[in-house]
Amino acid sequence: MRTDHPLWHAKHIVRMGLLLLLGVTVMIVVRSLLVPDTWGQYGWYRGANVEEQRDHPLQHGGDASCAGCHPEQEATHAAGAHAAVRCELCHAPVALHAKDDAYFAAMPVRRTAALCVSCHQRLAARPADFPQIRPQEHVAEMGGEYGPEACFDCHDPHAPL
Ligand code: HEC
Ligand code: HEC
Ligand code: HEC
Ligand code: HEC
Repeated sequence: MRTDHPLWHAKHIVRMGLLLLLGVTVMIVVRSLLVPDTWGQYGWYRGANVEEQRDHPLQHGGDASCAGCHPEQEATHAAGAHAAVRCELCHAPVALHAKDDAYFAAMPVRRTAALCVSCHQRLAARPADFPQIRPQEHVAEMGGEYGPEACFDCHDPHAPL
């Protein structure tokens, strides 16, 4: 370029422009290497994640998955005050216990006041209309004796009232 060419005095701007272009190119290449293929397939996240989550083996089966093998407990439960509390909340996911309609491992049974108290302990944060007690006071008021299995002296866990 001639030294009297008008662009001669703008060559520092041209260099800066070239550097900027190089930076943007590097950024585009690096991004295309790092961003997963399915990014943005459905939205602002990795699309393949949806399939990965879906393919986790099922752990819980709901009350219906117990009913076939435990019709008695299912009937008592459905008619009592715990009808809205799922079996697997107090026991454990069916996947640890039975598979393809065959029993293979023991199901935990928590015959402890601690289980009941975890939901029914009186707490200011619980909705006022949820049944709550102060365990020791409640047992004493009902004429029972407090101990680690006290609740079971008077309540059936499947139909407590
Ligand atoms: C395919 C049949 C089958 C299914 C489905 C099944 N169970 Fe069982 N369950 C059994 C058998 C058989 C036993 C008895 C095992 C024994 O006597 O040791 C048992 C025992 C139990 C016990 C007693 C364990 C003990 O130590 O006394 C509990 C609690 C239990 N099941 C809860 C459940 C729950 C909750 C579900 C549903 C989430 C469920 N079961 C689904 C077959 C099944
Ligand atoms: C509120 C907690 C709770 C819920 C909900 C619950 N269970 Fe239980 N379950 C227990 C406890 C605690 C025991 C032990 C009772 C005992 O030893 O007297 C037990 C015992 C059992 C047993 C052993 C036999 C027996 O009757 O003692 C079976 C089987 C069982 N549950 C199945 C079920 C099924 C099926 C459901 C749902 C339909 C269910 N449970 C819902 C707490 C619960
Ligand atoms: C996972 C939480 C949970 C556990 C564990 C649990 N409960 Fe409950 N319980 C509930 C819910 C939810 C209700 C229904 C509340 C409603 O109808 O408003 C209920 C209802 C009751 C009621 C009836 C209260 C009424 O006024 O209608 C009694 C009694 C009771 N439970 C006792 C027990 C005992 C005893 C245990 C232990 C064996 C226990 N619960 C374990 C959640 C639980
Ligand atoms: C000596 C018997 C006895 C024992 C032990 C006992 N209860 Fe009760 N419980 C009752 C009776 C009876 C009622 C019904 C009272 C009523 O309707 O006013 C009741 C009511 C309840 C209620 C409902 C309270 C409400 O405001 O609606 C809950 C929750 C409860 N019990 C949980 C437990 C828990 C958890 C344990 C163990 C720590 C336990 N109970 C031990 C006899 C007993």
